[in-house]
Amino acid sequence: MKKTGFTGRIINLDALTYAGNPVSLEDIERQYGGTRYFFEKGDICDRAFVEEVFRKYNIDTVVHFAAESHVDRSILGPEAFVKTNVMGTFTLLDAARKYWRTEAGEMRESAQTGVLFHHISTDEVYGSLGDTGSFSETTAYDPRSPYSASKAASDHLVMAYHHTYGLPVTLSNCSNNYGPCQFPEKLIPLSILNMLESKPLPVYGDGKNIRDWVFVEDHNNAVWTILQKGKTGEKYNIGGENEWENIKLLHTLIDIVARKTGGSAEAMRNTVTFVKDRPGHDRRYAINCAKLKHELNWKREVSFEEGLSKTADWYLANTQWVNGIRSGDYKNWIEKNYGKR
Ligand code: TYD
Repeated sequence: MKKTGFTGRIINLDALTYAGNPVSLEDIERQYGGTRYFFEKGDICDRAFVEEVFRKYNIDTVVHFAAESHVDRSILGPEAFVKTNVMGTFTLLDAARKYWRTEAGEMRESAQTGVLFHHISTDEVYGSLGDTGSFSETTAYDPRSPYSASKAASDHLVMAYHHTYGLPVTLSNCSNNYGPCQFPEKLIPLSILNMLESKPLPVYGDGKNIRDWVFVEDHNNAVWTILQKGKTGEKYNIGGENEWENIKLLHTLIDIVARKTGGSAEAMRNTVTFVKDRPGHDRRYAINCAKLKHELNWKREVSFEEGLSKTADWYLANTQWVNGIRSGDYKNWIEKNYGKR
């Protein structure tokens, strides 16, 4: 992570549902806990709890990462997505609106007081692309899964609170993230762990769907850049300019993991298993992030090769984290919904 010069406090509000793991934050807790870092367990849909956190810490900036984020889960159970992503975002926005009003009832201006609501969203709100083209900030929304529809709704609420109530907001729409600590339901960590256990590597459909991948630290640096320099009321696309067909990505990852473990790349390739396609599977995502690069001077720093290598190293080194998750809720959930893989 880049040195930011930030000297304030960070309050981490998290419901710790299935994908949250406090072990991921142990280092931060050890270094800053009780002085500059505070953890509050709770639900963003719980208005009383959210208001209490605003009051207790005198919150001036909200960076809203909290969301249900996995498309497959949204297909099997959309309700949690509507609750957390739509109602949760509404609850945070409305609490901010209440808390950030002056005594005269007017909204505090971002430039004068430093209050800001930054909303983290996804490129999936824009829908699916054909062979050419890319999503820009002005691309019309066309969400196609319950997940992306819930994120689209939350984006609209954020902009509505800006236009209607003057809430100082910024918004970012990012492409597929990967890196350490990612819950192993997403393609990259799921595949790494399955490779280590010689399990099948499930590929949906023909494996030719395309995603644009960005390393988690590059995403975080982009968010930090927007917090520092973003214009109130503006949205920014974040992407890796790094498009990969799923099957090609998997073959590259196999080579990296085989090199690191001394395993056989050929044996791993033989475990690639084409399975039934995801319903409504978006074909291609590609992000145009020229606005963020040119207006705010952000640039991607981690190449895909380096990012995949760092990610594989992390999952190889953190066996305790991995085993905890493997034996817990996720395993039961995946077996119940998908059968044993
Ligand atoms: P995913 O990591 O679920 O992200 P998203 O759906 O938000 O893009 O999936 C990335 C791509 O990989 C997507 O095209 C679906 C595909 N995929 C597989 O082929 N097999 C898998 O086991 C998973 C989880 C995803």
